[in-house]
Amino acid sequence: MSGIETTGSKRLVLVSGRAHPSLANEIAAELGADLVPTDARTFANGEIYARYDESVRGSDAFVIQSHTSPINEWLMEQLIMIDALKRASAKRITVVAPFYPYARQDKKGRGREPISARLVADLFKAAGADRIMSIDLHAAQIQGFFDGPVDHLFAMPVLLEEFKNSLDPSTLAVVSPDMGRVRVADIWSDKLGAPLAIIHKRRDPLVPNQVSVHEIVGDVSGRVCLLVDDLIDTGRTIVKAAEALKANGAIGVVVAATHAVFSDPATEILQSDVIDRVVVTDTLPIPEEKRWDRLTVLPIAPLLARAIHEVFEDGSVTSMFDGAA
Ligand code: R5P
Repeated sequence: MSGIETTGSKRLVLVSGRAHPSLANEIAAELGADLVPTDARTFANGEIYARYDESVRGSDAFVIQSHTSPINEWLMEQLIMIDALKRASAKRITVVAPFYPYARQDKKGRGREPISARLVADLFKAAGADRIMSIDLHAAQIQGFFDGPVDHLFAMPVLLEEFKNSLDPSTLAVVSPDMGRVRVADIWSDKLGAPLAIIHKRRDPLVPNQVSVHEIVGDVSGRVCLLVDDLIDTGRTIVKAAEALKANGAIGVVVAATHAVFSDPATEILQSDVIDRVVVTDTLPIPEEKRWDRLTVLPIAPLLARAIHEVFEDGSVTSMFDGAA
C-alpha cells in the first residue's frame, strides 16, 4: 500500500476567550481536559491579540466565548482566536457561543435595517469556523444563517430539573411572555402537564427596551405561572408580564430563562414582589452584585461538555434532547 499511514487518532483542543473563564474551566473539567494556554491581550488602542502557547496543528478545536458586555469586544476576540487556529492548521474549528451574539436582529422588521445575526454568522465563516454550537437561539432559523453544521442545544432539561419537584401541575400555568416563545413554552407545558397561556407583548419600534402588555390569552387566575423565556435583558418583558399575570389573578409567578443578560435595571426590577423566583443558567457571567436571594443560577457546563464530547466523538447531539424540540 502506497502513501503514509496515520493512526487516525484525533486531538481535542479547547480554547477560551476572556469573557467567562469560569465557564470554560468548568467545561474543561467536565471533559477531563485542559484548556490550551492562550496569550490574549488588548493593546492600548483597543486592538486584540491572541496566540496559543502550544501547537494546535491537526486538532479538532473548540473556541469557547461568552458574549456578555462588552459584546463587540468579545465577539472580535473570538474571531481573532478562530483566525489564529486556522492559520495554525487546526483541522476543524467549532465556535462555542452559548449565547449567540446579535440573535435578536434576525430579520428586517422595517426597511433599511440590518440582519446582524446573519452578519455574525458570516463573520464566523470568514474567520475560519467550520461549525457553531449555541444554546436556545432566539429564533431557530438562525441555524440557516451559517453555511455549515449548527448544533442548537436546549437548556430546557437543565431548567426543568429544577422545577419538576417544586411545581404542582394541577395549579400551574406555563406562560410565554410574547408570541416569539410560544413554541418553546408549548413544549414546557407538555413536559409539565400544565396549560399554556400567552402574553401579547408590544414594543415601540422607535423606543429600545420598552415593553407594554396588551392582553393575556389563556386562564391564569388562581394559578402559579411559570414564565419561560430565552433571555432576560433589561428585565422589562418579564416584570411587565408578571404584573399583568398578578393583575389577572395569578397566585404566584416563577421565571425560567436561559441567558441572564441582566442589563440595567434588570437586577433591581426583577426583585419586585410580583416575582417569587427567577431561575437562569450561567451561559453568561453573573457577578455577585447581580445576584439576589430569589435568583437561582444553574451550571450549563455539563450540557456544553456533553455536546462537545458528542461532536468530537462523531456521536449524536440530537439524542441528548430526547426529541425536546
Ligand atoms: C424577546 O423577544 C426576547 O425573547 C426577550 O423576551 C427580550 O429580549 C428580553 O428583553 P428585556 O428583558 O429587555 O425586556
